[in-house]
Amino acid sequence: MTTTAHDLLEKHYYQIESRYSILSSGKYTTLVTANGNSATPIHRWFRMKEAYSSEMLGQVLNDTGLDGLRTLRLVDPFSGSGTTGVSAGDLIRRGDLDESRVTAMEVNPFLHLVSRAKMSGHMVGPLRIQTVAGHIARRALTEQDGLTEIPSLTTFANPDYFPTENLRNLLALKASLTTILRETSDAATSDLLHLALASAIEPSSNLRRDGRALRLTAGKARTNPINIFLDAVETIAHDIDKPRIPFTASVSLQDSRRLPQPVQPSHDLALFSPPYPNNIDYTEVYKLEAWFLGLYSSSEDFSLQRRQTVRSHSSLRWGEQYGFRDGKNVKLIEALLAPVLDAIPDDRYRRGRQEVVLGYADDMLATLRFLHASLDVGGRMAIAVGNSMHGKAGNDYVIASDLLLAQLAEVAGFHVDKIDIARYPKRRTARSAYLRESLVFATKERQDA
Ligand SMILES: C[S@@+](CC[C@H](N)C(=O)[O-])C[C@H]1O[C@@H](n2cnc3c(N)ncnc32)[C@H](O)[C@@H]1O
Repeated sequence: MTTTAHDLLEKHYYQIESRYSILSSGKYTTLVTANGNSATPIHRWFRMKEAYSSEMLGQVLNDTGLDGLRTLRLVDPFSGSGTTGVSAGDLIRRGDLDESRVTAMEVNPFLHLVSRAKMSGHMVGPLRIQTVAGHIARRALTEQDGLTEIPSLTTFANPDYFPTENLRNLLALKASLTTILRETSDAATSDLLHLALASAIEPSSNLRRDGRALRLTAGKARTNPINIFLDAVETIAHDIDKPRIPFTASVSLQDSRRLPQPVQPSHDLALFSPPYPNNIDYTEVYKLEAWFLGLYSSSEDFSLQRRQTVRSHSSLRWGEQYGFRDGKNVKLIEALLAPVLDAIPDDRYRRGRQEVVLGYADDMLATLRFLHASLDVGGRMAIAVGNSMHGKAGNDYVIASDLLLAQLAEVAGFHVDKIDIARYPKRRTARSAYLRESLVFATKERQDA
């Protein structure tokens, strides 16, 4: 029997795995998805399918022994919908923490707004946003402020995607929101109302966010975005109607791979879920909201945005710029990636797929180095990550991101404590034991990397 590149890759993963403590504690099985977040205050303001559970942070603190801390300094370089930061505020409200300071980054301008608005939900206290929203809705109904221009993304001009009446209502809402907010300088009110408007966009279209794409689902559109907007504001007003707590969060619109220096102050925990090389292009998936809110000025701007994301998808050719090749661990990283690169089928997609593997490792190493510098000695890191399958059946290969991240974390100076396998997908195949979702736990043991 001949040994194939696939067999060599499985052996490679086996050898990496044998260096670590691997377990399936079952504690994370239900926490690696967003299930439950739609019923949880603040988290429910905008559903991000790729988010993890609002209970993830509590479990990680418990598991790492950091649950003894009364003040938690937390960093998340891939904030997404803000689950990590918002959960820290939840723990204060439950009495499990006295105080928390969160540093978060997100490169997608719409998700940046979602994170910022949600985290402000633990900071602002009661606001009169329902009254303001009522004014906006009344003015929109009579089109008192006219309509804003249709965004230049062609999707909006197609009535199969956006029923004409719904689009008109959305544009009237945006026009009135802009007029009213000119008189209110309060940044939190502005963020919360923009988030409520954004939450009406997909439901009032015939498009459904479905994994990697937006799909046409005829007849899906709910009528009247104005009512969806008002319902969203009511939920937000309800969730913020609470006393303030000692919670501070700073969310920056930032490419986490290009952070020049550690963020201050130092942190106790880095908890995050990075993009995985599973071909989800977040720029594409959240484009309706970003375009509608005017967060892209042109299609060049949109393309530029895509280039700033982690090299986790092959919807672009990335070129072959790899920072690790200038560093001292180049041989080690090449040896780590070679069996993955060799297992990629020799077809017209090969170069593009190889660029993703090399680019992904390069991007993750840059982020892990930054996180190492941003943690205190003794600080912990927990990464929720999914491994992914690529190629056609019989000629497929798995990118075991959990094992690659564990090895790259060591290169960045971390000690890897354990890998806790959260779950295996339903479409598990006998071809690979490595298709799974895991949590990788690591500790910063020394100051130097
Ligand atoms: C898996 S999601 C994070 C979800 C998050 N844990 C939550 O529960 O909402 C990964 C995020 O990384 C963001 N991202 C991709 N490339 C980035 C980059 N270069 N810098 C910062 N964020 C980036 C994506 O826009 C996406 O929001």
